[in-house]
Amino acid sequence: MTLLVVVPDRNNDKLMMKLQQLLPQYNVVLWREGIDCSEVTFVLAWNAPSYLWPQLPKLLAISSYGAGVDSLLKQSLPDVPIARIVDPQLADNMSDYVLHAIGYFKLRFSQYQQHKTAAIWKPRRAKTGTHVGILGLGNLGQAVAKKLSSVGFSVSGWSRSEKNIEGVCCYAGAETLHKMVSDVDYLVCLLPLTPQTRGILNQTLFQKMPIGSVIVNVARGEHLNETDLLAALDDGQLSGAALDVFTTEPLPTEHLFWQQPNILLTPHISAVTNIDSACGQIADNYLRIKLGKTLCNQIDQSLGY
Ligand code: GLV
Repeated sequence: MTLLVVVPDRNNDKLMMKLQQLLPQYNVVLWREGIDCSEVTFVLAWNAPSYLWPQLPKLLAISSYGAGVDSLLKQSLPDVPIARIVDPQLADNMSDYVLHAIGYFKLRFSQYQQHKTAAIWKPRRAKTGTHVGILGLGNLGQAVAKKLSSVGFSVSGWSRSEKNIEGVCCYAGAETLHKMVSDVDYLVCLLPLTPQTRGILNQTLFQKMPIGSVIVNVARGEHLNETDLLAALDDGQLSGAALDVFTTEPLPTEHLFWQQPNILLTPHISAVTNIDSACGQIADNYLRIKLGKTLCNQIDQSLGY
């Protein structure tokens, strides 16, 4: 019963130490090229190479080392259950990020940053709009909705299936999307990446939003049509965008987004898996599988999240 950790290109010392502490009598192994995987029953994965999967004859379950599973589901995986990380700490970090990203545009910090380069002193009141729309009302979307409404924003949310969340005006289903975005000042994307949501932030949607509104994408780069965003910023349909995720990461140095003054750009840091809080649920899932139980936070592979 080996737990294989496949999180390439980063220092995994702390992650390994923590998992070994939590599972002292079990075999927790860090993946490297050429390693024998014949006894692996459980894989913890983030950006695992696709050639790994056929080498695991005894695999019983996979855990994503993040909230998202889209990069796993792109690969041809063995037919085993998959879990993802659901962590209140992650939800808190995400809520903080979104609140600050909205504040950046609401308080016009983006303009003052540009004024600073030319020593322009031009005070203006904060923007008055307080209506935020959230695409995706899963664990993270709901946490963000609660945080924003607790500090006085009026929040609407949109999801595939009906939701009922106190203080949030909830819309469900594709046919309500344009209505939901029609009067938002800020639109936050927290959707899972699926064939239905890929490219959802596009020109058609932007044109349904009020002139001068702002988008915040903290989900996946592939939700956004990048060319449509640049056009919408150019013609003033949108006044700004906070982007933490990109189709290609790291964002290539020649990408036009780097030069856009009205784009707040961060390197995929809005909610980074916290080793201390995540390892407990990974170890717990490993033990559950060992005992023949179902995984906690197991995804529905037919839905893609
Ligand atoms: C990060 O993007 C995650 O899915 O946890």
